Amino acid sequence: MCGSLFLIPLPVLSFSSTKPFSHVFYLIHENWVLGHYNLLSSPDMSRKENGQPQEDLARPELQLSDLLLSDRVRELHATINNEWDSVQRTACQMAAGRALWKHVTHDPLAEVLAGETYLRSLHEKMTRDRINSAREVSGVILAVRTLWFDANLEAALNSFNGGEAQVVLLGAGMDARAYRLSCLKGINIFEVDFPELLHMKATLLQAAMGSSNEHEQLKMIAKSLTRVAADIRDNDWSEKLQRSGFIPERNTVWVLEGILYYLSHIHAMQVLKTITANCSLTHTVLLADFMNKSSTLFQSTYQFYSDWPENLLASLGFSDVKLSQLGDPDANFGLMHDPLNLFNKIRSLPRSVQNHPDDGTPCHRLFLVQATGSPNHSII
Ligand SMILES: C[S@@+](CC[C@H](N)C(=O)[O-])C[C@H]1O[C@@H](n2cnc3c(N)ncnc32)[C@H](O)[C@@H]1O
Repeated sequence: MCGSLFLIPLPVLSFSSTKPFSHVFYLIHENWVLGHYNLLSSPDMSRKENGQPQEDLARPELQLSDLLLSDRVRELHATINNEWDSVQRTACQMAAGRALWKHVTHDPLAEVLAGETYLRSLHEKMTRDRINSAREVSGVILAVRTLWFDANLEAALNSFNGGEAQVVLLGAGMDARAYRLSCLKGINIFEVDFPELLHMKATLLQAAMGSSNEHEQLKMIAKSLTRVAADIRDNDWSEKLQRSGFIPERNTVWVLEGILYYLSHIHAMQVLKTITANCSLTHTVLLADFMNKSSTLFQSTYQFYSDWPENLLASLGFSDVKLSQLGDPDANFGLMHDPLNLFNKIRSLPRSVQNHPDDGTPCHRLFLVQATGSPNHSII
């Protein structure tokens, strides 16, 4: 029996089962809610795997808040569904993952930021996975990725030993870390994304703040949150960032979560080089996820890839590059223990292997990478 992993995109566009294993590919249109489906795995394994009590797994109903179902919020999400392009909408898909995995992500704003359509769609997949006793329930990758970035963001801020610091979220989407991570207390946050997305996010957050009662007060934890409307494919995004108050000489953590692979190779490299240019001025930590080549080939929305991101970042001048793959000890958070799940099966194969020797399926890898730069290291 074999666990089969999938990059589960929404909405489901195609469905094929090609190998002697129970591989089910959900080709999503836009995005990276990774999922996984296995008709043959043992129920006990998968239940343990996801760390959830058995009774939760039967067929949990999707409970939506009054706020989400209000006319105002429905109207805002209708605009998103009708007017945003597929890359922008991935922001809501990510938020849906955090909302439906909130027992581990603890993101109280994710639901309103995600919207009903994406919540229902992912919930349906999760229910199906549970009924079929999948080794991983859809969205687990997103949950693990979120926790990895949370943990490494905190560690990066601690590494500055109390010095003043700022955090830049490139392609911030519906990220609500400024409201949920205590390590961001005293930190200036900059969120960079398309103008319409940032405007809509601010409007949805206003609606959420307005509706919270005194017992569940939603408050910003970060010292400041500055939204910077920019297309990071343009040359002027870092100027816009500086005009918004970003201080190049201040310790900085750059968070590139779920963004690089939506850029062309030229644009992704330009973005990485712009960040490395800042390393000559201050202590810098870069946190980023990279897809390997196989993962980008399977879906046309994905462009940039690197099979060896640690070499790429080292060649740009970063030092202390640390790479994890999903399922590694620092990248499973107790959610992915099953040795037969595909993440773990892939992890044990050399990275040069592009197709699984058992069944020929492409090895989809997601690398989680941390790198540092400082004025003491020469940056190209
Ligand atoms: C998959 S979402 C990730 C959002 C967020 N980082 C998270 O993990 O939830 C990708 C985000 O990148 C943004 N994005 C993609 N291309 C961009 C560009 N060229 N300039 C600015 N933002 C971009 C999209 O609008 C979207 O919000």
